[in-house]
Amino acid sequence: MRLVGSLGGVALVTTLSACGGSEPTVPSASMNMGGRIAGGGMASGATSGGLGGGGMALGGGGSHAAGDGAGAGAGGADPDCIAPPSTLPCAPLGVMPVSLKATGLFPALPDWTQHAPGLQEYAPDPALWSDGMEKQRFLLLPKGTKIDTTNRKQWVFPEGTLFVKTFFDETGPQATLRPIETRLIRAAAGSAYEFFVYQWSQDSTDATLVVNDLNGDINANVSLMVSLEAVNGGTPFSHTLPSRNECGQCHEKNAVVAQTIIGFDELRLNTKLRVDAPRTQLREFADAGLFTQPPPADPATITDASNDGGRLLRIKRFVFGNCVSCHNGDSQFDLRPDVFVTHTVGKPTEAQSVMPPEGWLRVVPGDASKSVLYVQMQRTMLPPEVNGRRLRAMPPIGLNDVAAEQSALEDVREWITSLPGDRQ
Ligand code: HEC
Ligand code: HEC
Repeated sequence: MRLVGSLGGVALVTTLSACGGSEPTVPSASMNMGGRIAGGGMASGATSGGLGGGGMALGGGGSHAAGDGAGAGAGGADPDCIAPPSTLPCAPLGVMPVSLKATGLFPALPDWTQHAPGLQEYAPDPALWSDGMEKQRFLLLPKGTKIDTTNRKQWVFPEGTLFVKTFFDETGPQATLRPIETRLIRAAAGSAYEFFVYQWSQDSTDATLVVNDLNGDINANVSLMVSLEAVNGGTPFSHTLPSRNECGQCHEKNAVVAQTIIGFDELRLNTKLRVDAPRTQLREFADAGLFTQPPPADPATITDASNDGGRLLRIKRFVFGNCVSCHNGDSQFDLRPDVFVTHTVGKPTEAQSVMPPEGWLRVVPGDASKSVLYVQMQRTMLPPEVNGRRLRAMPPIGLNDVAAEQSALEDVREWITSLPGDRQ
């Protein structure tokens, strides 16, 4: 579904303080804007993420929740702290409670559209496709801290920084949004990071900690059925809440910027959170004092010089959002924008486990059906009868096989078809 609600009235950046602020909760900006929660180019229009119209109002009222006591809590050592002192906005390095409600991040639950005032909402662009699920993301910086942005390619997050990302299902003809899982990454002592997942109850009143980095059970995951009206007409399919081990497969060897946090950087924040926002998220956050350095006048961006109506640029952006967390020349071959074409067109695969059939390349100019990159992106594996084993669908995790991103696939197919066949 598309969230179409009243615009305006909601400050993107409410307060730098994680614990201060005069409001017990803040309605999330994405609940009040046109466009998908996930963002993904809603302002730049440059991604392949657009899924067409359709839409309904969520009743994006935007009024502040009265709170139910959780937000108005007991004081404690910090007189500014309006949440109970044990909650994350006040004690970001504290114990991760079993109940999401007890974290204090969404103090107005069951009203999940409200969040604690210290949370900064953002939307990376390009984003990760994830079967087209709606997502909503927040940053929580410990009070009085800043992100060290001295190294433009490797921001350093202070200890206690928390990233919060919620996935939604869209059920029924009204495509009603329902939170499914909330993933957390916390910067711990040293440069360690901790990973957590909360699974929401069916009635969306609270969520339970199911992946706890600190309990050592790294392969436990949970599968459940979701439905996404806008993506595949609402046919239910299985969605997996990743294990701790799987978090690491995408987050820990992320050599693009050599850091665990993937989606919060100069390039991905160089777009507006809402169409009507006056500034990019980069500038908003800089103005709110979140960074040690002012953002560069000319922030990092993905470019493409080909005269093809923006198709190759859209492809590079999709690949940046979905592939380069692994394919960055470290453990997997490099698919970053500047080398995307030279590393794919006419190039044989280097897959260690399985070799594709004779005549197949990463990209066979003029022939998408023999281009490994396209076939894998379709979420189909190379047929086993060819060589007895299979090349894996790409990306290998984080998706089901039902909801590939159709406009990105179409772009890739058209691009490959347009390449002159004698080019190899
Ligand atoms: C398939 C790869 C993949 C897996 C598996 C994965 N993530 Fe992520 N995650 C991403 C990407 C890419 C982003 C940034 C883009 C976005 O948010 O759309 C991201 C963003 C996040 C964020 C926001 C902060 C950031 O790094 O941008 C959190 C929090 C998060 N993931 C938590 C988790 C947790 C916890 C797990 C495991 C339970 C996990 N993720 C598993 C790819 C993955
Ligand atoms: C979670 C990490 C991860 C992500 C994300 C990912 N890949 Fe891969 N990719 C791999 C691994 C691991 C292999 C090697 C598979 C093997 O050897 O069987 C691979 C292999 C490949 C290959 C074949 C190997 C070669 O040398 O040509 C292609 C093509 C490919 N990936 C394209 C993509 C594309 C396109 C995306 C994004 C749509 C993507 N991958 C996303 C991990 C990833």
